[in-house]
Amino acid sequence: MNNLEEIIRREIAAQGAIPFARFMDLALYHPEHGYYERTSRLIGRRGDYFTSVSVGGVFGELLAFQFARWLEEEFKVQSPESEPDGAARPFQIVEAGAHDGRLAADILGWLRCQRPELLARIEYWIVEPSPRRRDWQRESLTGFAGKVRWLSALPTLGVAPHFQSVRGVVFANELLDALPVHRLGWDARARRWFEWGVGVQQDRLVWQQLAAISSAVQREPLAGLPGCDRLEELPLDLLAVLPDGFTVEVCPQAIEWWRTAARALERGWLVTVDYGLTAEEFFRPERPGGTARAYCQHRSSVDLLGRPGEQDLTAHVNFAALQAAGEAAGLRTEGVFAQGPFLAHTLRQAAESGQSLGVWTPERTRQLQTLLHPDHLGRAFRVLVQTR
Ligand SMILES: C[S@@+](CC[C@H](N)C(=O)[O-])C[C@H]1O[C@@H](n2cnc3c(N)ncnc32)[C@H](O)[C@@H]1O
Repeated sequence: MNNLEEIIRREIAAQGAIPFARFMDLALYHPEHGYYERTSRLIGRRGDYFTSVSVGGVFGELLAFQFARWLEEEFKVQSPESEPDGAARPFQIVEAGAHDGRLAADILGWLRCQRPELLARIEYWIVEPSPRRRDWQRESLTGFAGKVRWLSALPTLGVAPHFQSVRGVVFANELLDALPVHRLGWDARARRWFEWGVGVQQDRLVWQQLAAISSAVQREPLAGLPGCDRLEELPLDLLAVLPDGFTVEVCPQAIEWWRTAARALERGWLVTVDYGLTAEEFFRPERPGGTARAYCQHRSSVDLLGRPGEQDLTAHVNFAALQAAGEAAGLRTEGVFAQGPFLAHTLRQAAESGQSLGVWTPERTRQLQTLLHPDHLGRAFRVLVQTR
């Protein structure tokens, strides 16, 4: 048993079975033993899983092109001298879930080479609650000292000292699918939902039904199906065919994150790239056990409770619920796109405008294929874009 499992067992001994969301929070983010606190080298060939960032620099370059195009068009960027007061307001690119700072370095590197005047007007903010990860990011971004600013949380509307609205782009790559989820099961006989918790039995961590569903789950509009805010409101014909024990994940923390980001956005874009589903897809019969998975050395498993802190845990994002939260905060949805078509559109825009995205060496072409191809990362990842 590792140190973190001992800590988790002590918590269970003191208060009884804990929600899976609490288990996942400790497994990933315990300040000392959490998976994401241990080392920066978790992602990529030698780590546990790939992200689009770990494929190489092309992903960041394409995002940088897209962000630059949005900013230039929306704000009609001019040089500071040509603006009336001579000191034009800066724009922000705000990244959350920056991990080791690699994506930030790719984006800033491209802007420095290709759009130096725009970069002069940009502040790059990284939202990072963990002091340890902030150190990793500072190390990756030494070449951009003075350009990057760190915030421990998203700017919160009207609440000092974090309050500062954003004009620009707020984005995250694979942040929301790494936030702790609650797992809800359907009791077909009693026709009610219950929450899966984590307890200890015969000296092992085991799944146990909790006596009540966590209040955080009850507060959020989770299902996101048209005309249906809560799981209890799912259409009767759908509930009638859900098998006993059918499990879905819900993530109030992701919805709250999105809502806060939407409110912080004065003008611009809110973007997330994640593994995720629309609401209907969560209730497909081929997913009776839900979408939560553990990853270790590029192997996925459903042993979510094994070796806490030593394997990644992730669950699909509910894009419909995020979309609804953003729209309720006044944002307009541009769409939920598969990553492949989204990046292909960016490439087309670059070609049509005659702008160079760099030399397509065999290595960069290989990266592009991995990002775009539906059997690689092009279909599994989706991009939600909302604007104000
Ligand atoms: C799956 S990793 C993605 C890393 C990187 N964006 C990439 O694509 O390679 C998720 C990252 O989000 C970080 N994270 C988790 N909660 C966060 C929060 N509330 N704010 C900012 N980052 C967070 C995790 O520690 C981890 O570094």
